[in-house]
Amino acid sequence: MIDEAVTLLACPHCGAGLDADPPTLLCESGHTFDVARHGYVSLLSGGGGKFTGDSAEMVAARADFLASGRYDPVMDAVADVADGPHVLDVGVGTGHYLARVLDTVGGDAVGIGVDVSKAAARRAARAHPRAAAVVADVWTALPVRTGTIDTALSVFSPRNVPELARVLAPTGRLVVVTPTDRHLQELVTSLDLVRVDEHKTRRLGDSLAGTFERTDRRAVGYTMTLGPDDVAAVVGMGPSARHVTPAELAARVTALPTPIEVTVAVTVSVYRPAAV
Ligand SMILES: C[S@@+](CC[C@H](N)C(=O)[O-])C[C@H]1O[C@@H](n2cnc3c(N)ncnc32)[C@H](O)[C@@H]1O
Ligand SMILES: [Zn+2]
Repeated sequence: MIDEAVTLLACPHCGAGLDADPPTLLCESGHTFDVARHGYVSLLSGGGGKFTGDSAEMVAARADFLASGRYDPVMDAVADVADGPHVLDVGVGTGHYLARVLDTVGGDAVGIGVDVSKAAARRAARAHPRAAAVVADVWTALPVRTGTIDTALSVFSPRNVPELARVLAPTGRLVVVTPTDRHLQELVTSLDLVRVDEHKTRRLGDSLAGTFERTDRRAVGYTMTLGPDDVAAVVGMGPSARHVTPAELAARVTALPTPIEVTVAVTVSVYRPAAV
């Protein structure tokens, strides 16, 4: 785990900064955390375990799909509005977005990817040489030092607004990607998947109001041509996979026309901390 990333981390028990003492990280109060063989560190504050995040199968489906390049325009839009050198991705998943941002920002940029899923953290740890992966629950205090982050990313992930505000530098920005109600609509309709709440973008604004001010909003929309394996991956990485048995899903996918044109329609919003 690279030292520059460690300087951004905070002890989940006492909030003090962490230092690297390979193969552990430690704080001044003597709390220690082992860096796993797979390169990530668990900074869970304990007492929970309520959220486990995406399963290994969901993460693998996401990795397959993102490697296909079909979400590259979304990644490019995110990278276009991000700034360094300190990048935090909360709900990092496979780390594809964080890696794209680090490559685009370039130079001395370092990234922290946080996810409650160990399978995701394992992938994110390998996503980029300047990225570190941390297992933590977004609904607790983020194990990140106050006021250190230049860009915080929330890409299709849960958002803890007060914590995002705490970790951002005064000049920092929050970049949020949310699906619109047209996102993947052909699959939602024909496979009877979980629908995106049509008020999601408005609710995003409501949840951030008072803490953040929006500075930019971009719609990213296009269609992609998917074969049966792509459809299985895009469905397997999403929430619907929790509600459909693999056999039932496979049967529904088989019944689809192939290839199928599928809509991508997301919003990339940029916020700065609100003036107090
Ligand atoms: C829809 S995925 C998005 C992943 C990635 N940002 C992307 O777009 O490829 C949501 C991610 O949030 C993570 N997640 C869910 N609940 C979480 C929590 N309470 N704390 C941290 N991460 C969480 C999941 O494990 C999953 O990796
Ligand atoms: Zn400590």
